[in-house]
Amino acid sequence: MSDSRSDALVLFGASGDLARKMTFVSLYRLAARGLLDMPIVGVAFSDWTDETFRSNARADIEAAGDEIDDAVWSAMAARMTFVQGDYTRPETYAAVKKALGDAVRPLYYLEIPPGLFEKTVRGLHDAGLLGDPNVRVVVEKPFGHDYDSAVALYGALSSMLTDDQLYRIDHYLGKNAVQNIMVWRFANRLFEPIWNRDHIECIQITMAESFDVADRGSFYDRVGALKDVIQNHIMQVVGLLAMEPPSSVDPTHIHAAQLDVFNAMRPIDAADVVRGQYAGYLDVDGVAKDSDTETFVALRVHIDSWRWAGVPIVIRAGKALARTGTEAVIVLKQPPLDLFGKDRHGGDAPEPNWIRIRLGHNDGVQTRVQALDPTQSAIMESTDVIMDVDFKTALETEKLPYEQLLGDALDGNPTRFATQPIIEGTWTALAPIVEHPGPVETYEPGTMGPPSADRLVEGLHPWIDPVSPPSERPA
Ligand code: BG6
Repeated sequence: MSDSRSDALVLFGASGDLARKMTFVSLYRLAARGLLDMPIVGVAFSDWTDETFRSNARADIEAAGDEIDDAVWSAMAARMTFVQGDYTRPETYAAVKKALGDAVRPLYYLEIPPGLFEKTVRGLHDAGLLGDPNVRVVVEKPFGHDYDSAVALYGALSSMLTDDQLYRIDHYLGKNAVQNIMVWRFANRLFEPIWNRDHIECIQITMAESFDVADRGSFYDRVGALKDVIQNHIMQVVGLLAMEPPSSVDPTHIHAAQLDVFNAMRPIDAADVVRGQYAGYLDVDGVAKDSDTETFVALRVHIDSWRWAGVPIVIRAGKALARTGTEAVIVLKQPPLDLFGKDRHGGDAPEPNWIRIRLGHNDGVQTRVQALDPTQSAIMESTDVIMDVDFKTALETEKLPYEQLLGDALDGNPTRFATQPIIEGTWTALAPIVEHPGPVETYEPGTMGPPSADRLVEGLHPWIDPVSPPSERPA
């Protein structure tokens, strides 16, 4: 083990929903790849023992659909111990210290409510558990609920941790298809020369979920779509789509190039926002009867940079929509002359080219181009064809976002984590709507949100709906 690699992993919030759905299966996969040969300490308020911790984790891995290799599991389980405790009490940290034994540079993963981040880091600090410079603390999202709270949280944590020790998770940054945006753009001669205002009409990003808020009413009602997924996940995607080429893949260079995007982002105008709430949301458990929290939001973003001036980025995200899929579609301008369409012989103008990047649920890239239509014999007319790369087939392997991110944090690699300046930049751009959210319109579940979202694409290509993943396609 190198001197900077973590030598133990401590999970605060080990009995929580996120741990159950994402963490244990990701840790199991790291263990199966030989990358988790260290003590794993679970901490939670639940009245568990080492044995219940292990058996619950095993059940969670199985529930995620992974087949368990007994040799991998028994080696991992033998290293798992549980500390029952209240995060506000010093005894909890004394027990963590004991459970850590000889480990000197653990990774502490705080998958707990954000209101407890500071208290937990304080507990670790006061117990002398943050001393080694290679101790790292990973905090879950959200990092603040607006600009001021993000700055205040950073102020509190940075009195106990250095910048190099603090890792802010955004699981979208752990998605292969999301990081691939940078590779696709800067490792291919094919795309980058056209990736600018001369060739692009607009960029559309849709994060559609066909499921509703289900049992997350009390969490969601305090947050809404803008803070739940736009400020973090979608803004990180915008950063990757719009950044200039970094001077190297060193995290400082990558983060600096991404930060420039948010420095050039115009604060969002209230006229460029549509908020929606699905009919029936007010009946969800935990939701206030008069709530005006949005379950859908659409917005138009402008980046005032040399590359992007005049190219709108239109974004929409929502729950209880017609389908599930997250996509960024780069819509290209029409060629200067329409040789094979309307201008020549009165037919329809061909559809413009677009590059559709599928981000999660169905990863890949499609490019829509024109080809000669063989059914037209008298005239030369073009028709749409799709060039399609499906990552699952082409790359033959998939990593879970948390498998990637926890593996990176154990290695001390901050590239795929959100930085403080970027978080502050996104809150700054969104501040006008965070402060004055505007009215919320009701929409029917199973639609693509309020029809008035169409006004954000007036004069542009109409909204392009995501391709449904195979599980949602009609048989
Ligand atoms: C989470 C949000 O951060 O991301 C959820 O809290 C959302 O509301 C989820 O459903 C979407 O993640 P993914 O990876 O399924 O697109």
